[in-house]
Amino acid sequence: MSAVSSSIVVAVDGTSGSGKSSTCRGVATALGLRYLDTGAQFRAMTWWCLENGVDVHDADAITARVDEVVIVSGTDPGDPTITVDGIDVSSAIRSEAVTSAVSPVSTVPAVRTKLLELQRSIIDGGGIVVEGRDIGSVVWPHAQVKLYLTADPAARAARRAQEEGGSDLSATEASLRERDRIDSGRTTAPLTMAEDAVHLDTTPYALAEVIDLVVELVERASSAP
Ligand code: DC
Repeated sequence: MSAVSSSIVVAVDGTSGSGKSSTCRGVATALGLRYLDTGAQFRAMTWWCLENGVDVHDADAITARVDEVVIVSGTDPGDPTITVDGIDVSSAIRSEAVTSAVSPVSTVPAVRTKLLELQRSIIDGGGIVVEGRDIGSVVWPHAQVKLYLTADPAARAARRAQEEGGSDLSATEASLRERDRIDSGRTTAPLTMAEDAVHLDTTPYALAEVIDLVVELVERASSAP
């Protein structure tokens, strides 16, 4: 039985490949909380643009059609589903085509506004671990626990290449750095560490150690007066 408050919101932000997803799913599972991957929602929007011939570099074209897209996110950390217009896109959103187009799509203010509303409606009520880039700063600034995960770029590339079964480390590292550059430099809700977030550099730790550290932090925050 989990000792944490059923209304707790754990906001986990950080760079691409810092181990956010595996950490958040592990923490949510250990504590009996829900899980929301907001990056998957930006990927789902991107997948829809590619499928429907909407130029991912044309903010006006995306803005004009953003209301047509229906994204539904499941919150089970053991099986985090995502559908677009009723189609299961959980695998399709991990393709190279989506990965290389997602940063420009996520800079479009209309996309962020739409997804912000969706994210808040899911988080409402709490009992959830939420991962993204702007959760602690913009989406849910009153989260009881805010974490900012980073890792050394070479370590991130090695993890990502292992996950994706690829072996081109330098290309993976270059792609991660490029996404960080766009994510950090955009005007609306850039990747940034919230003032009251705890910074955790995951480079020296195994996944299980990071999960244990975060579970401890959440339990401590939850029992604080
Ligand atoms: O976490 P990820 O790699 O699946 O995220 C995909 C992209 O989505 C990432 O390049 C930046 C964007 N993103 C965002 O802008 N805001 C979020 N809250 C989550 C992701």
